[in-house]
Amino acid sequence: MPGAFMTAIPTIDLVDALNTEYADKYPTEILELALNQEGEIAISFSGAEDVVLIDMASRLRKPFRVFSLDTGRLHPETYQFIETVRKHYNIEIEICFPEAETVQNFVKEKGLFSFFEDGHSECCGIRKVQPLRKKLATLDGWITGQRKDQSPGTRNEIPVVQADAGFSGPGKQLIKYNPLANWSSADVWNYIRMMEIPYNPLHERGFVSIGCEPCTRPVLPNQHEREGRWWWEEATKKECGLHAGNLNK
Ligand code: ADX
Ligand code: SF4
Repeated sequence: MPGAFMTAIPTIDLVDALNTEYADKYPTEILELALNQEGEIAISFSGAEDVVLIDMASRLRKPFRVFSLDTGRLHPETYQFIETVRKHYNIEIEICFPEAETVQNFVKEKGLFSFFEDGHSECCGIRKVQPLRKKLATLDGWITGQRKDQSPGTRNEIPVVQADAGFSGPGKQLIKYNPLANWSSADVWNYIRMMEIPYNPLHERGFVSIGCEPCTRPVLPNQHEREGRWWWEEATKKECGLHAGNLNK
């Protein structure tokens, strides 16, 4: 949405400079940079603790868009939480569904729990990555709640601003903003408590990192949050493809 303070979509060279300039800034400043970018930008909301981004954006009093990928396999609590957030902030949440026919064929062929047998990538590809690709094709930038401390094996180098190598199309550079990159889980939870913002009730039952219901479980004290995701798979591969670039690092 064009406006008086909008800045042009950064070129690849500028992205690196911006990342250096914003590397140590507070998440709200990074978020503001993103929301000031020209073109279509949206927050990618997973129904877990990245509601912090929505809260910060609403306090900036700038227009912002939010989308969420509904895989069809989320916990009932997550669906209720998404609705709570929609009402709490009086915002539209753009829910993205997977292609019905692709899911139907997949489930017909392999059943509803094939990921326990041959890994999560095919199901995540159909239920998350394809819908994300479709949504991102309509955007110039996206804002995620990724943090370095979420997954030491794959996320410990994520920048606050980056050119999205995985989802940029020919002739279109997609910019990815990760305003919470340098925040720890403790920082996020201090913010949630201090600002008294809504959170997914599953967090009260030992869930930390929350994805789809069959592929997420609570963690024990001092177990890393990522151990609650795809626990039957090798620890170093815990990315579902939404942030595919993380695996190339
Ligand atoms: S995942 O790749 O392992 O599933 P994770 O749950 O750590 O991702 O979340 C990291 C960020 O990815 C979230 O803060 C959010 O921006 C985005 N994300 C994850 N899942 C979804 C989803 N279902 N819908 C929209 N964004 C999501
Ligand atoms: Fe499928 Fe599990 Fe991936 Fe959800 S997290 S899309 S249920 S494999």
